[in-house]
Amino acid sequence: QKLSSRNLEGVAKYIKDGKARKIVVMTGAGISTSAGIPDFRSSDTGLYANLARLNLPYAEAVFDISYFRNNPHPFYTLAHELYPGRYRPTISHSFLKLLHQKGLLLKLFTQNIDCLEREAGVPEDIIVEAHGSFAKQSCIDCKTPYPHDLMQKAIHEKQVPHCQQENCKGLVKPDIVFFGEALPSDFFDNRYLLSQADLCIIMGTSLSVHPFASLPQFVGESVPRVLINLEQVGGIGSRTDDVLLLGDCDEGVRKLAKACGWLEELEALWVT
Ligand code: OAD
Repeated sequence: QKLSSRNLEGVAKYIKDGKARKIVVMTGAGISTSAGIPDFRSSDTGLYANLARLNLPYAEAVFDISYFRNNPHPFYTLAHELYPGRYRPTISHSFLKLLHQKGLLLKLFTQNIDCLEREAGVPEDIIVEAHGSFAKQSCIDCKTPYPHDLMQKAIHEKQVPHCQQENCKGLVKPDIVFFGEALPSDFFDNRYLLSQADLCIIMGTSLSVHPFASLPQFVGESVPRVLINLEQVGGIGSRTDDVLLLGDCDEGVRKLAKACGWLEELEALWVT
């Protein structure tokens, strides 16, 4: 399964020739920046460069479980800003939905916690939310789930919610994977699918957080890996059939869709 050429046309031909029937996609914050959600590590606009107001010892502390236990307030200040509801999926999200509609999307591994993949219409069972999401929440001590409406209220009012169980009163947190916490079993249970993929697309991630960042290495040696990202990351480009589509991902998916003859379909999906 070779590409005819290591560029956009090569990938489009590979797809049009029916060689990509089990596509695995990996996504990160870059696919949501055009929705208005900052990514983490971009030097000026990234979240970590803009957290001075939270007085953190270091930027990632806002998502660190030990830090949260001592001081949950910075996280809840940020959660108020990031909470799903006010953002719309981007055309990059719609591209994922399009792949699914065409029966080509084997699995989507996302690091994003914004739930925009679901909102774009990718079914929940296709998505592995590797870093969890805001969709559920629970006590960090006894793990009891916490009601969603109370969480929405707490976030809205910038209050820190506490467990309602008698004798617990632990801190409640959205089921986002913090630094120092394990990834959901779903991530490990589905990792084997990478070796079954016949095309891998990586979009909008710096591939700097493990174990997620190691996923592309599980893709078969002879299987094309396509990176659609502002910058080259994670050693993608080192294999013979790797393809770099460097630039904005919305632009990248539009070009790829166009080359596949899907552009109108994609634009229509995004509008609806
Ligand atoms: P990063 O901020 O680390 O990386 C975002 C990547 O997307 C960078 O390589 C950007 O250059 C690129 N990018 C930004 N905007 C783009 C655009 N419009 N088009 C194309 N590329 C664009 O975000 P992640 O890789 O998602 O963890 O970060 C991984 C994890 O680190 C997150 O899940 C989060 C964070 O700590 C937790 O919160 C647990």
